[in-house]
Amino acid sequence: MSTPNHSAETASRPAVPEGLVIAVDGTSGSGKSSTSRGAAQRLGLRYLDTGAQFRAVTWAMLQAGVDVHDGPAVAARSAELMVVSGTDPAGPTITVDGQDVSGPIRTDEVNAAVSPVSAVPEVRAHLLALQRSIVADLLAAGHGVVVEGRDIGSVVLPDAPVKLYLSADPSARATRRSAEEGGSDLAATEQSLLARDAIDSGRATAPLVMADGAVHIDTTGFTLEEVIAQVVALAEAVEAHA
Ligand code: DC
Repeated sequence: MSTPNHSAETASRPAVPEGLVIAVDGTSGSGKSSTSRGAAQRLGLRYLDTGAQFRAVTWAMLQAGVDVHDGPAVAARSAELMVVSGTDPAGPTITVDGQDVSGPIRTDEVNAAVSPVSAVPEVRAHLLALQRSIVADLLAAGHGVVVEGRDIGSVVLPDAPVKLYLSADPSARATRRSAEEGGSDLAATEQSLLARDAIDSGRATAPLVMADGAVHIDTTGFTLEEVIAQVVALAEAVEAHA
């Protein structure tokens, strides 16, 4: 049964197929997270932040004193972790073994350690299975979802009907990320983003690539609202051709 509020929300919501999956990949600071959350809210979809999952595993390694450059040790510890993602785009959550880590996963320590942890094949295999099972459960419950990361369109969900690849100029990315982090040093932020990109794009397992069939949006010259509008239009185009 729908309430008046729910009807109004549904009436203003763009028409998209039930169970739509949108895969969003791109570099750090390209606007992926804000765009993915905003588009999910506009389209009435759930939202899965896979970067937060890699960050959560990394946080747990640091907490346990595991050397993040020791692949076998990282693999062994990651197998024991229970990572749970909440997929409400208005308030996504992330816990590790029941502990809320949404704040601690955004620190400089995690920024510096997340790329080597993400390069460990066993960590990727573990999170790949988790990501696919979350999406399968959402679809079974009648929800669609926007999933953001680095290998979503290429590896995790290659059959997603909408695939996006977001990029932006390094200085624009650093400015956005610095603002998100409450005004961190611009030059240091840009260096940290570029260092992570180099590792994320150069690793052997599931490197950051533009997936086959992905639509490339360079967000440098656009506002967040303008990028979200482009994503909504692409989702509506899928409905038009369904
Ligand atoms: O999107 P983010 O900055 O929160 O991602 C943090 C790190 O996680 C990023 O440096 C690369 C890694 N990552 C990944 O390897 N694969 C994904 N699907 C998502 C993130």
